Amino acid sequence: MSSYRHRYHAGNAGDVLKHALLIEVLNDLVEPKLGRLVYIDTHAGEGRYTLLGTGEWTEGIGRVDAAEPSAELLPLREALARCGAPLRLAGKGGEYPGSPQLALTALRPTDRAVFIERDPETSALLRRLVGSDRRAEVKTGDGLSLAKAVLEGTPSENTVVVHVDPAYTDKTEWTDIVGFLYDLREARPFAVIMLWYPVKSLTRPNALHATLRKSGVAASVVELQVTPLDIERNALNGSGVVLIGATASCVSRCAAIATALGPILATHEGRFTVRTLGWT
Ligand SMILES: C[S@@+](CC[C@H](N)C(=O)[O-])C[C@H]1O[C@@H](n2cnc3c(N)ncnc32)[C@H](O)[C@@H]1O
Repeated sequence: MSSYRHRYHAGNAGDVLKHALLIEVLNDLVEPKLGRLVYIDTHAGEGRYTLLGTGEWTEGIGRVDAAEPSAELLPLREALARCGAPLRLAGKGGEYPGSPQLALTALRPTDRAVFIERDPETSALLRRLVGSDRRAEVKTGDGLSLAKAVLEGTPSENTVVVHVDPAYTDKTEWTDIVGFLYDLREARPFAVIMLWYPVKSLTRPNALHATLRKSGVAASVVELQVTPLDIERNALNGSGVVLIGATASCVSRCAAIATALGPILATHEGRFTVRTLGWT
């Protein structure tokens, strides 16, 4: 089993893009007062993190916290505040919420959230955090297979949102995910799916996009590179989100959020790239 622990990465530039877009996707669906929404987080993590003194968050949420507020980032700021303001981000001992806690701030009292986490210790921490919320259920096991089982028992009239956020510690995760997305779309054609991926170079992201496109899954992509790739730094140089089933207006707001984050998160002043792609 992998020893990946998200606590060492919590609040980094990848988390900030992912969480800002997650809030946007959920707000887009709860605003029109659609029926019950079922949110499934396949790789849920601990749900809340204590920020370490020298953590990656200083290059992520630490910068957003210090930046001038902007309209594009207001929903993220509001969601963070609802998770327990003040977050005391400055300095050691601050806290940052994970996707489960953020998603719960966006969901309505009648919605449902299923959080799946494979690591038993991590899943126990999450259960302790959200266990008293009637809307939330934590399952321990493989995210992709448990998500399929949850969907089989979910009434077809429910709006389904699936957030897929693998750790990418094994390169097979890049390819396994395509079959999962294809099957999910076949089973629930109206599901809204968001898949986060890291960018070190463009080799794996481009292969992911091409395979998805070839498999016939219509999608949009919003990607933010915060470090110029020509530097060939072997680190997280950016990240992207594949959006399936999201409305066109939601996708364009997601692109605007990435563009607002670019200058804030750029590791080399002013040098960032937002890529937006789409296929039907
Ligand atoms: C990137 S972190 C998740 C972060 C979280 N989604 C957030 O935004 O706060 C990935 C998580 O997936 C868990 N994990 C790894 N393989 C898994 C699997 N096959 N099924 C479910 N969870 C898995 C890891 O233990 C880790 O907590």
